[in-house]
Amino acid sequence: MGFELPDLPYARDALAPYMSAETLEYHYGKHHKAYVDKGNGLLEDSDLKGRSLEDIVRGSHGTNSALFNNAAQHYNHLHFWQWMKPDGGGAIPGELEKRIAQDFGSVDDFSAAFIGAGLGQFGSGWCWLELRDGKLQVSATPNGENPLVHGGTPILGCDVWEHSYYIDHRNDRGAYLKAFLETLVNWDYAAELFDAAD
Ligand SMILES: [Fe+2]
Repeated sequence: MGFELPDLPYARDALAPYMSAETLEYHYGKHHKAYVDKGNGLLEDSDLKGRSLEDIVRGSHGTNSALFNNAAQHYNHLHFWQWMKPDGGGAIPGELEKRIAQDFGSVDDFSAAFIGAGLGQFGSGWCWLELRDGKLQVSATPNGENPLVHGGTPILGCDVWEHSYYIDHRNDRGAYLKAFLETLVNWDYAAELFDAAD
């Protein structure tokens, strides 16, 4: 049992104009598919074959960078498609909103920190809302790295590789991050991950 490309949870044009069908055609159909295909090839020669995706991500970190990059990107994108939905953004489910307010001061403070982390990540990577040591925190990671390998649990992540925004927002990563939080985020999915991790 290897990695599998999941179906997108919405039509390819469902997130337009903030994330176009053309972006998803490439980002999902080419980039994510390549992580799955390359990851499966690399898994064949690894003793991590047959383990859970999370185990493969943690187990290959620092020891098998080719497998790690593809497995971690598979993990990140599996969640990324679910971290968005048509007509997203809006109200955050109660318990998660309460904890965001408690740990960041307010939802606005969280949003500013999340966007700041995404903008501050030089080159390709991700910005995150993660639960670590019982506290919600914002972080950024390069390339395919994610909070799993730093002792955290991802609650929400945004892909800041150019392949995620260049067609729709060109070089304006800030506009993309703002659109992600205001119009794309599926807070119900983030809340599910939070409830499972808390
Ligand atoms: Fe991506």
